[in-house]
Amino acid sequence: MDSIRITGAAVLEGEIPVSGAKNATLPLMAASLLTADTLELTNVPRLRDIGTLIKVLEQHGVTVETETGAIRMTARDIPNTTAPYDLVRQMRASILVLGPLIARYGNAVVSLPGGCAIGSRPVDLHLMALEVLGAKIDLGRGYIHARAPEGGLTGGKIIFPKVSVGASENALMAASLARGTTIIENIALEPEVIDLANCLTAMGARIAGIGSERLVIEGVDALHGATHSVVADRIEAGTYAMAAAVTGGSVLLRNVREDLFGAGATVLRKAGITMEERGADIHISCAAGELTGVDMITDPFPGFPTDLQAQFMALMTKARGASMITETIFENRYMHVPELRRMGANINLNGSSALVRGVDTLYGAEVMATDLRASSSLVIAALAADGDTTINRVYHLDRGYERLVEKLSACGARVERIPGQ
Ligand code: EPZ
Repeated sequence: MDSIRITGAAVLEGEIPVSGAKNATLPLMAASLLTADTLELTNVPRLRDIGTLIKVLEQHGVTVETETGAIRMTARDIPNTTAPYDLVRQMRASILVLGPLIARYGNAVVSLPGGCAIGSRPVDLHLMALEVLGAKIDLGRGYIHARAPEGGLTGGKIIFPKVSVGASENALMAASLARGTTIIENIALEPEVIDLANCLTAMGARIAGIGSERLVIEGVDALHGATHSVVADRIEAGTYAMAAAVTGGSVLLRNVREDLFGAGATVLRKAGITMEERGADIHISCAAGELTGVDMITDPFPGFPTDLQAQFMALMTKARGASMITETIFENRYMHVPELRRMGANINLNGSSALVRGVDTLYGAEVMATDLRASSSLVIAALAADGDTTINRVYHLDRGYERLVEKLSACGARVERIPGQ
């Protein structure tokens, strides 16, 4: 297994191109199953998770062509509507093929994704939404067996009791081909869900209320192909913004808009970070010593994103004063805490809250990546720490950060990838 060695303390100066969003690309790829035409995506990041979903789609019978930054998918015939355990367990978001398969083909057998490091990750809300549209769902031997009625799915009223990004995306894709009208209440507002709704509209779906918590979808008989540019990755951008700030640096994040940050921008500014929109880019700077401890609670969009919680905690370990961080979305998203402590961070956990007291110095150490966003928090801490840090199991990083070593090196970081033994 490869590792990454970072020599701190660094000061990041320069430009970082922000890639297309992993968490938009995945549902957009699943949407290719909804049409016999070709769906082309551009601004696609080269990430491990994208490669895994390509394998899932290809084993369904989708023709996939890739080139740098683009992917073309054509689901003309789907001889196989089963998504197997060995692929789904590698990438939980494979569950997003469930809605499209039932909507277009009337049946699907999809492995239950199972949990992961950050939580049990149930899919009950996905299944509830599809049952409202008429799907018959049985669970057996680790698989979801789903079947649409003879005439196909029919519109209904889906009211989500809690916000779920993935369940919103499955419901939205299925409803676009369900006969009649579907109302979805309390749909997730994450930019990646909005991006999917915009792409489905370009494919001929009839969706009203995009950007609000209540969507009204008029099902259509068929969707056609489209070309869609993937929205910028707000989580990647937020990660690099905090990396720049913790080093007292100044970085221009290319091709990302501030409105993608939601309350994240408010919190980062309160912590002493200067964020300025410059055309299609955002300039980030934070003078050394300016970083101030601020409290933060994660929340569905436009609240502070749970996917930036670990990174924010790394930032706060070097802030003046204290920060109370509360994780409300996932039940086990503090795996980065023991590793940050090994670097000298002062963090006290109490249930779903972490009290971080800023320290003057972090020290490089050998640490372990445990999940995707925890690993990026270790990168942030390593950039600010004195001395060398080796981060092991960097395959976690490969899932969500395209060309991380290259992007950081271009801004003056001393970072190298060490091939595994
Ligand atoms: C998406 O996961 C993202 N993944 C996650 O990013 C992100 O953390 C999460 O949304 C929240 O923003 C992708 O988009 C591929 P949820 P998802 O359904 O859809 C509970 C990353 O680092 N829930 O919004 O799985 C669930 O347990 C990843 O890129 C149910 O109870 O998240 C959680 O507590 C990590 N039943 C909460 O809802 C369900 O049927 C939010 O989960 C579904 C979810």
